[in-house]
Amino acid sequence: MGKFRIAWLPGDGIGGEVLQAARIVLDSVGLDAEYLPGDIGWNFWCSEGDAFPQRTIDLLKATDAAMFGAITSKPARAAEAELAPELRGQGLVYRSPIVRMRQLFDLYICLRPCKAYPGNALNYREGIDLVVFRENTEDLYCGVEFTPVPSELAALLARISGPFGAFQQLPGDQYAVSCKINTRKGSERITRRAFEFAHRFGRKKVTIVHKANVVRATDGLFLEVAKEVGEEFPEIPFDEANVDALVMWLLRNPFNYDVLLAPNLYGDIISDLCAQMVGGLGFSCSGNIGEQLGVFEPAHGSAPKYAGQFKVNPIATILAAKMMLDWLGESEKAVKVESAVAHVIQEGRVKTYDMGGNHKTLEMAEAIARAISG
Ligand code: NAI
Ligand code: MG
Repeated sequence: MGKFRIAWLPGDGIGGEVLQAARIVLDSVGLDAEYLPGDIGWNFWCSEGDAFPQRTIDLLKATDAAMFGAITSKPARAAEAELAPELRGQGLVYRSPIVRMRQLFDLYICLRPCKAYPGNALNYREGIDLVVFRENTEDLYCGVEFTPVPSELAALLARISGPFGAFQQLPGDQYAVSCKINTRKGSERITRRAFEFAHRFGRKKVTIVHKANVVRATDGLFLEVAKEVGEEFPEIPFDEANVDALVMWLLRNPFNYDVLLAPNLYGDIISDLCAQMVGGLGFSCSGNIGEQLGVFEPAHGSAPKYAGQFKVNPIATILAAKMMLDWLGESEKAVKVESAVAHVIQEGRVKTYDMGGNHKTLEMAEAIARAISG
């Protein structure tokens, strides 16, 4: 038995290919771990009506961390149509397993480091080094949604909300409601983690991202709480920005920013922008982190058009494995992996298609593994 138990969740499309690549690197760095494969993704939705079966939930309860590839998600109607015939018409509803996992295991931090490794021709600018702390369980992703809108809800809103008057006459099937719910607790804990991170790694400032001038209740709460917590860290300066202005300024001068703290939806969006500034989806990794469990994944999806071709870039997933090593306390190994990735990028001899080369997924992993072994 290894020192760590790691759930291994390839999922769909290219998920298995990039995880295979990550495993080559984890083995070369000598992580003492037992890898436990788990079922997740579209096939399990189609065949058993559940993309995140209970046995996988149980597996995650008994592991230290997980590596997750990617899953395919489709809109409700398309999902229903692909169910095995005997499962149709039972009212089964597809929900993204990764969103469920975040809620079930309270993985409230989505950590997305976006670093431009020197010499990557895809860098928007050399020297970019941003870290996004995205709240991961609340906000518009809380799952409280109505379509069609039930008449009880419409009646209540008509009674208590003035602005709802504009929608009051609509039949329930002519509009939809998604609730944005943000809590004091949720806003506080993500902020605290962001400032602790800034403190620990000597980052120069934290920027609170919001749209509190318009979305007054929820973003107002987030901003208020984040500022309160920020005051507890006098050594870390912080500022705030409206999300729309921020994306513009971020592109204009990424060096004005360092740690970006945001509620769920804005965090999702700005982290994709940040990813593109450091080479795109092939380079962007993500950690979903709670008090008990960390689930590490590339930020990209299942890229169905490349599935089976072993040509996508595994660096995002290898950097996710690096984050996992950090989280497990294996910092020396994490540094080795990151240095090897940086070395291979800088050297520029092995490049996947997105980098303008034609090396395969596993060739990239092997080059990184060689750089680790010296
Ligand atoms: P995607 O991220 O899977 O791929 C979009 C495009 O980005 C690809 O066609 C490819 O050109 C490029 N790309 C992605 N990963 C790459 C890599 N490692 N190396 C080089 N190029 C790469 O996004 P798409 O096509 O919008 O979604 C496909 C499926 O994945 C959908 O079902 C979507 O719901 C799902 N998805 C799942 C996510 C997850 O599992 N966390 C995240 C995003 C999307
Ligand atoms: Mg996203």
